[in-house]
Amino acid sequence: MDKRRRLSAAPAFVCALLSSCVCVSSLGQIDPLVYDEQLLWVSGAQGQVNTYRIPLLTFTTQGSLLAFAEARKSSSADVGAKFIALRRSTDKGATWSPTSFIIDDGSNPDGLNLGSVVVDEEEGSVILIYTLCFHLYHCEPSSTMMVQSWDDGLSWSSPKNLSVQLGVKAFAAGPGFGIQKRYEPAKGRLVVCGHGTIEGDGVFCILSDDHGQNWYNGAALKSIPYNQKKKAQDFNPDECQPVELRDGSIIINVRNQNNYHCRCRVVVRSLDGGLTLPIDYLFFDYTLVDPVVAASALQKEGVLYFTNPSNEFNRVNLTLRWSLTDGQSWEKNAVQIWAGPSGYSCMTSLDSASVEDRKYIYVLYEKGHKDVYETVSFAKVHLYGGQ
Ligand SMILES: *[C@@H]1O[C@H](CO)[C@@H](O)[C@H](O)[C@H]1NC(C)=O
Ligand SMILES: *[C@@H]1O[C@H](CO)[C@@H](O)[C@H](O)[C@H]1NC(C)=O
Repeated sequence: MDKRRRLSAAPAFVCALLSSCVCVSSLGQIDPLVYDEQLLWVSGAQGQVNTYRIPLLTFTTQGSLLAFAEARKSSSADVGAKFIALRRSTDKGATWSPTSFIIDDGSNPDGLNLGSVVVDEEEGSVILIYTLCFHLYHCEPSSTMMVQSWDDGLSWSSPKNLSVQLGVKAFAAGPGFGIQKRYEPAKGRLVVCGHGTIEGDGVFCILSDDHGQNWYNGAALKSIPYNQKKKAQDFNPDECQPVELRDGSIIINVRNQNNYHCRCRVVVRSLDGGLTLPIDYLFFDYTLVDPVVAASALQKEGVLYFTNPSNEFNRVNLTLRWSLTDGQSWEKNAVQIWAGPSGYSCMTSLDSASVEDRKYIYVLYEKGHKDVYETVSFAKVHLYGGQ
């Protein structure tokens, strides 16, 4: 509501709408084109940071873009001390604020890990969830933490420890975005899904029915054998991205950590707003070949989009696919975003009445020439071939 009022008050938007409403009453065939690309973070260049990894991207209800990453202080390792880096764009990715470090975990041997960003569209806040001591490396227990912004990402609350309510089982959200249910069942619920650690791995969702004030444990899809050391090809669902479909169900696209059954993605589905993930709806998506990595999924106007490094063995070839059947099949003409080393990715788009906003999705991803951790890059993708 708020967002639409603001946008329609802008003269530029009114002009764009008037001049283009004739020719784009139907936007036509999907034919994605990388329209613009910018490196938001370069590893190794800045004084206090060794490596930027784990991109998260979202629009706020006011139409700003927020890009987050882990700024790993002394190495590229998952453990170790970090900042959470944030850059903000109020012009849909054309220009960006300088980096601000919104969280600093000091010299923690097993510092913070991202994480999921969730926009509460009903109240306009942005919630960021991250984990401390996820790997239990020289520390215990693991804590799930939350910060919240009420001013479009400019300032952030002090961290709140969600493990007081959820318990201290290791839980790493995402990486990617959490969702707010737009449809029944459980309209308005915040759903953040992630994974456990080592033996206790699996997909787990945490839920909030009061805009993030209180959280409780929802669905669990546990690894097999649970709470035991895994072997190659064991069932070990890991990092994941939930998406709400227009029928109100949630599908979760999951990293298949030990290559159980295939070198491809696992897809699970919840029909009750993230309370359960019945095994009946689990399937392996053979089209979505995957080198064991965090991937992204996004639903826009009934089309499901998916990005990952599309290769069975290596993190290369970042590819965008789209499905007109909620992921039951994928269109043949996938688009390569980057041929070289590419890793984690996160997509977002702005759902507004504006024709311009209907044309674009945005991808933040790990990109390199020799090594996948070299940069975090922002790509603006025109869905209709630049038209
Ligand atoms: C978070 O809460 C849990 C449970 O009360 C506690 O064990 C843990 O030490 C807390 N973590 C932090 C960082 O305060
Ligand atoms: C990149 O991905 C596309 C789509 O899956 C595939 O056709 C192509 O063979 C891939 N290339 C490499 C080098 O993996």
